[in-house]
This record gives sequence, C-alpha cells and structure tokens, in this order.
Amino acid sequence: MKHAYRGFARASGLAALFGLVALGTTSCKQAEAQGGGNSPAAQFAFRNSADTPPPDPGRIFKLSADYPKAMPGPCAECEWLKIPVSFEANFPPKESPHAWTQGRWSEYLASILRYVRQGQDPNLRDEVGFLVDVGGSTRWFNVPWMAFDPSVGREYRHGTTNERTAELEDLVGPDGKPLPADADSIGAAHFLPHMTTACKQRYPRGFETWSVGYYNPHGGYAIGKAIPKDGVPRVGEYMGSPMPDGLPFPVGTAVMKVLTTNAPVDCVPFLAGSPEWRVNRHVQNPNTKEYMCKREVQVSRIVQIDVAVTDPRSPSGWVYGTYAYNGTLKGATFWDRLMPLGVQWGADPWTFPAVPKRDSLPLQQSVANPKIDIFQHMGCQGRLAGPVDNPQSSCMSCHSSAYAAKPGSLSVMGTNVPPSFGFDGLCTAYSAENAAYFQTTRPPQSYSSGHYPNAMSLDTSLQLEVAYQEYGQYATTKAPKPCKDPS
Ligand code: HEC
Repeated sequence: MKHAYRGFARASGLAALFGLVALGTTSCKQAEAQGGGNSPAAQFAFRNSADTPPPDPGRIFKLSADYPKAMPGPCAECEWLKIPVSFEANFPPKESPHAWTQGRWSEYLASILRYVRQGQDPNLRDEVGFLVDVGGSTRWFNVPWMAFDPSVGREYRHGTTNERTAELEDLVGPDGKPLPADADSIGAAHFLPHMTTACKQRYPRGFETWSVGYYNPHGGYAIGKAIPKDGVPRVGEYMGSPMPDGLPFPVGTAVMKVLTTNAPVDCVPFLAGSPEWRVNRHVQNPNTKEYMCKREVQVSRIVQIDVAVTDPRSPSGWVYGTYAYNGTLKGATFWDRLMPLGVQWGADPWTFPAVPKRDSLPLQQSVANPKIDIFQHMGCQGRLAGPVDNPQSSCMSCHSSAYAAKPGSLSVMGTNVPPSFGFDGLCTAYSAENAAYFQTTRPPQSYSSGHYPNAMSLDTSLQLEVAYQEYGQYATTKAPKPCKDPS
C-alpha cells in the first residue's frame, strides 16, 4: 500500500456520470459569473467541484479564480524574506544542532503561519472553512482544472481533492522510530501500545487524505497567466526555455494547503480537538473496506498544514515547511496547536540515496524541529515529510519533479515526465533514479536524470501538474477519465 503514492492515486468508479452531468448549465453560469471564457474548456477548468451539490448544500466551495491582473507590489507581509537564515551548504558540513532555533528557521516558519492564519477562523471550523478574503481583499486563490476528474477531483463542500491514502503507521510512527523501508503491509510489527487491533481491522485499506491548496496574490497572478480565462494553458519563455506563462513564481509567492484524514481520534489520539471538516468523500465498501467511487459527506479531520514560499536566496528558489496538528498541545485555538515539523529548501543531493552510503553527508537542506515528541515523521533519510506523506520521499524531492508535457498532451510519469510518486527502490539504494529524484534544481533546469528533455519545469507546483494533466485529458478525449470502482 505504500505505493498508493500521495496524489494521482486514482481511486475509481461510478462518479464518472456525475462528472458528465455536472457539465450542464450550472458550470456554464459559474464560468460566466467569474468573467471567464464560455468555451467548454473554461467551463471545466473553472468549475467549483467535480461532484454535484445537493439542492440545499449548506456550505459550498467556490473556486477563487479572480486572479490579480497585474503583478502585486513587493510583499510587505512576507516577513520571512527579511529573516537572515542561511541557505549555504558547507563542506565539510557543519554540525548544527541549533539550526532550528539559532539558525532562525523556527522563526521563519512561524512568520509564514502568522500570514496564513491572518483573518481565519480561530478553529478553522467546518461551517467557516478556509476564507479567501482577508482584510477586505482576496488573499487566496485556487488552481483551475482540479475539479475535472470524477475519481479524485474537488468535492463541493471544501474544494478538497483526494490524495495518497495514508496508513496508520504514517500517522503514528511505531514508538517514534522511523518506519522500516519495506513497510508496505499492515503487519503486527507496526502496532502501537495504545492502538487497538480493532482500529487496524476497521481500516485495512488505510486512510484517505483529502486536501485543498491556496496561493496568495503573487502566486495567483502567476497562475492566472499560466491558465487564463479560456482554461487553456499558455507556454511562455524563461531564460530561453519554455515554461508556463507567468512562471517561475515571483518573489512574494506563498502557498498553503490544508490536509485532512478520515482517521478517527481513537486510532490517532493526537487528532483530538482537530477541526472536523465534512467533505464529500469516497464511501467504503462495508465488506472489503475499499474506497469506492460513490461519495458521501463524511467527517475528515485536519491533520497537517503545508506551506511553501518563494525565496530568492534558496538554491531551489523555494522553502517548504510543514505543521502537524497535535491535540496534546495546550494552545487555545486550532492554529496554536499546530506543531512545526521543519523546513526544506533542497532535496539534499549530498546525502544517500542521491550518493552511495559511504559518500553520504549529513543533511544540509532540511532542518527539523528537534522537539517533536508525539511521533516522528520524516521522509527519506530524515529529509522533511509530513504525517500523511510517503516516508520514502520528501517535500522537495516530490515537488521538484513537477514537470509537464506540452499543453494538450498527456503526461505519463516515468515516460515523458518524471516519476513524482516514486519508482522501484525509491530511497532504498543509490541509483540513477534516486540520484535524480534527490537533486536540488532550479528552473528552467530540466529534470536531472536526462530522461525527459521535453518536459518543462512547473517550478515545483504539483497542482499545476494536475491542471496540465487534466487539460491534456480534456484536449485528447473531451471528457474526464471515468471513475472505476475497485473490482
Ligand atoms: C510524494 C509526493 C509529495 C510529497 C512528499 C509532498 N507533496 Fe506536496 N503535493 C503533492 C501533490 C501531488 C500536490 C498537488 C495536489 C494537491 O494539492 O492535492 C501537492 C501540493 C502541495 C502544495 C500546493 C502547491 C503545489 O505545489 O501544488 C503545497 C504547498 C505542498 N504540496 C507542500 C508540501 C510540503 C510542505 C511537503 C512536505 C511536508 C509536501 N508537500 C510533500 C505531492 C507531494
């Protein structure tokens, strides 16, 4: 099950019908309402959800796609850009046990969270959701085309999409120890003292992650150029190489993502008090516990908040960071019970498995919060990953594989674009694939394996990769891939 990689884990089934039905009048109106083109592509690109809300839906997600038409001025609120952190790699590496605090990474990540929580509900309650307007203007924007696919596309309540299915071990590391590399079955070895057998029996297929991401005005400006109102991706040029128009993302870009899980609190105690969002997610087959195409509004708890910001000082141009919800913390609000796990600004190319074990140096581009006590969750060889992430990967290695084939054609991971979600032997041995996957790159650089010369960099945006893929699907077949129930 570990190869049910984060994202693209196309679930399956019936909802294909919904996808097609929803093509009708409502989506036309949506496209018009936001001033978009009336073309069929625009209707798909900018619709709010892949499913059809019931007549009286209660809360409803509305795609925030009124992107800024001009480049916003310098980002005054982006305090992190002024914090003097060091992105330098040292040879030999400096042992820096205090990098998190004295190196001011803790402060850096905290300033991003301050920006993200500004104007939001203190408990990010289900009824309120994540607000796009802050202080009288639109602060947050979504990526189009993510409501095309009936299997995993946006649902109507919070706009979340379905990603990699997490296993209990991902959420609760066995006694805080890193997971064994070959943990791809749910075995007794991974049971926790406080985790009942009943829990595992109830969820033999693991847990689903439904998540929603938002870009700030600088990011929104770039997205509006990359995919304008007619829904057709535009390619521009960056330093002589083709790249989506508007990319790379300008300085001042910030991205946030809310990740939810259906793991119940009795299985994962640190989720106590976490906002219980009701999302229109897959129903489980009562016998096999497999996740089916059919969707129903069910509870999903916020487990992780991911952030990413552009920073011109970073060798990749980015800093990724993550927070895990921890119900055992004392904080008065949801935001105060978020525990920073760490930051990452490159994929650590001097560390195994980007190099052979004997040449491996300590990590230089990931800094972890040393005070994580409820569980430990890091990615490959201690690189940064979050509780619901694939522990064989890491934020920057997965994200720096964001590439696309030319607009209108389909991308096939491992064929014409890099294998974002892994390959045989991910993180286990020094290999050409691992060396490429754990490189630090910066646009317009091609993927470093040399295998995908025609794939263009999406500057780490995997949501744009989804959008390109869905547009490719649309352009080749005019219809989304139908959802198929597991047989
Ligand atoms: C194995 C792959 C994988 C790993 C590891 C991963 N992500 Fe992502 N991430 C994705 C995919 C796929 C998307 C796009 C789909 C979506 O948003 O649901 C995404 C979307 C995002 C976004 C929204 C903007 C964008 O780039 O699309 C942010 C921000 C983000 N991830 C941050 C993180 C952080 C921080 C970490 C590490 C803690 C991380 N991710 C680890 C696969 C991954």
